[in-house]
Formats: sequence, structure tokens, C-alpha cells
Amino acid sequence: RRVLVLNGPNLGRLGSREPDVYGSTSYEGLVDACRTLGAELGLDVEVRETNDEGELIRWLHEAADGALPVVLNPGAFTHYSYAMRDAAAQRTAPLIEVHLSNPYAREEFRHTSVVAAVASGTVAGFGIGSYRLALRALAERLAG
Ligand code: DQA
Repeated sequence: RRVLVLNGPNLGRLGSREPDVYGSTSYEGLVDACRTLGAELGLDVEVRETNDEGELIRWLHEAADGALPVVLNPGAFTHYSYAMRDAAAQRTAPLIEVHLSNPYAREEFRHTSVVAAVASGTVAGFGIGSYRLALRALAERLAG
């Protein structure tokens, strides 16, 4: 089963971006980790990243139209993009919100997620482990 792992702004800079907050694994390392675990779980995982809100919204439309399950790290869009939330709300398959860091342990503006209420669930605070947990949760949900 095909699954999209969608990453929003600044996540392509993983590894060099604030490693004390986001870890030292590179974006390529994240892609590898998701694809490898996906294969073990019988999922064909496609990982994408964009700094562009419109592009992320178009990918969410693609997921809605194709009934594709999604693991979504919206980056800072999490906290304010109602347009992205409205796109995520059109999902026809499970969608799991993920964060590397624990936003609730950080600045106040990160304590609000505008997508949480339209997601199937959220995993946050485990570094790239958040993505692994999300893929396992998806696999379980897809298995029925
Ligand atoms: C993030 C948390 C957001 O607050 C931040 O803007 C990011 C990354 C995370 O994965 O921890 O870009 O989504």
C-alpha cells in the first residue's frame, strides 16, 4: 500500500538545522529510515519535502483524491495554516501528524496545532522515532 510522508518548511535542512532541537540525522537519513521501516511493514513509502504552502496543499489534495494514507509534519504551518488544515480535512484515509520535537515543551506559539483536530492522531517528541511510530500506527490501522 502506498503511503505519503509529507514534510513542510525547513525540514529539508534536517541534520544541519538546530541539531540540539531536531537531532543530527540528515533529511536523507529520515527518508531512508521511513522507506526501510515502510518496506518491513509492507508499505510503499514516498517521502517529500517542500518549503511551499501551496505545494503541500496540492499534495494533500492528491492524497485525498487517491485515498492515500499520510504522515504529515507541517513544520511551522502546524501553528497557523488554516488553508493546509482545510486541505488535510479532505482526507479519505488515515492522516497522522508528526513532530520531531515536543512542541508543548517549547515556545507558546507552538502549543497550538491547527491540524490536530482533523488528523487521526499525533506523535511528537521522539525525533525521527516519531515518524517510525506513525508508520507503525498507520500499518496497524490499515490492517483493520
Ligand atoms: C516541528 C515543530 C514546529 O514547531 C517547527 O516549526 C518545525 C518542526 C517538529 O517536527 O518538531 O519546523 O514540526
